[in-house]
Amino acid sequence: MATIKDVARLAGVSVSTVSRVINDNGYVNAETRKNVINAMENLGFRPSNIARGLVSGKTYTIGLVIPDISNPFFPDIARGVEDEAIANNYNVILCNSDWKVERETMYLSLLIEKRCEGVVLVGSHSEESDLLKVIGKMPFVSVDREMVHAGHSVWVDNEFGAYTATKHLYEEGYKRVVHISGPPSVRSANARLSGYKKAVREFNYHEPQIIESDFRTSGGYESALKVLEQQGDSRPDAIFAGNDLMAIGVIQACEKIGIKGGVDLGIVGFDGIGSSAYTSPSLTTIFQPGYEMGRRACHLLLDEIVNPGKRRIKEVFNFELLVRASTKWIK
Ligand code: RIB
Repeated sequence: MATIKDVARLAGVSVSTVSRVINDNGYVNAETRKNVINAMENLGFRPSNIARGLVSGKTYTIGLVIPDISNPFFPDIARGVEDEAIANNYNVILCNSDWKVERETMYLSLLIEKRCEGVVLVGSHSEESDLLKVIGKMPFVSVDREMVHAGHSVWVDNEFGAYTATKHLYEEGYKRVVHISGPPSVRSANARLSGYKKAVREFNYHEPQIIESDFRTSGGYESALKVLEQQGDSRPDAIFAGNDLMAIGVIQACEKIGIKGGVDLGIVGFDGIGSSAYTSPSLTTIFQPGYEMGRRACHLLLDEIVNPGKRRIKEVFNFELLVRASTKWIK
């Protein structure tokens, strides 16, 4: 395999000149640059990112820390980050935090150790000051959560999304809406809980009724079974689930106890994952543009890496209420 020395020899220049061409830093006259590039082509020499990094200190690698790749909302974000990274010649190291602060901290330290140039961080629920201590000087963009003191942030208005979801149920004629919430330590889950409460207060048909769960299908299923055990006036006629996976669990619970989702029970989710259109009934949900958010976050990160210390950017993406069969009340 050809080395940088072979290229230098063939082009008749020093190794440091070849290195300047590869890393595009320092002056090299146009003719010499052409000779070096020709020599690289003739020898089939392709400088690896590692070789480049030895000179420039760059690794062309960023990290992506997400809570759980098995939740279909996160692959959308991951695709967006990856596509933007690849388009800019960067690689991505994927890390799952499992919603655990210790695991998140471990991965962030690892990414710094591996000399990643920055990180896109999703769904963290650790204290901001603790997080910033671990991240140190590494550029980062937060997705799904607004960071108050540092970094760029990209997210949707979770509170307003939840308010919109709950309001939609009342407007469709449902009278008693229960909320199955995500883990209380997760910011988006808390914001959604506030949005739900706001709509409940506004319509004032009943007190807020909340079951705390875990953003997983099994959690939604178990919670719905408990809620639907209730008889009489306290039994809800609708459930707003804090994400689509839990809403899919609610649909399964309806099936189990023999009631018709959408008819006997209105159901709304949050995220707009691809499969939400193919459940039975199809799921009404608040769609958040995960792919675009991921892509934008990566774009902001790469920009920060190249031009550090610019104005902090906070971008709130629009969500969309997708009305489907799970809230088609038969009046
Ligand atoms: O489905 C997982 C949820 O956790 C998503 O709604 C996302 O917003 C995150 O907070």
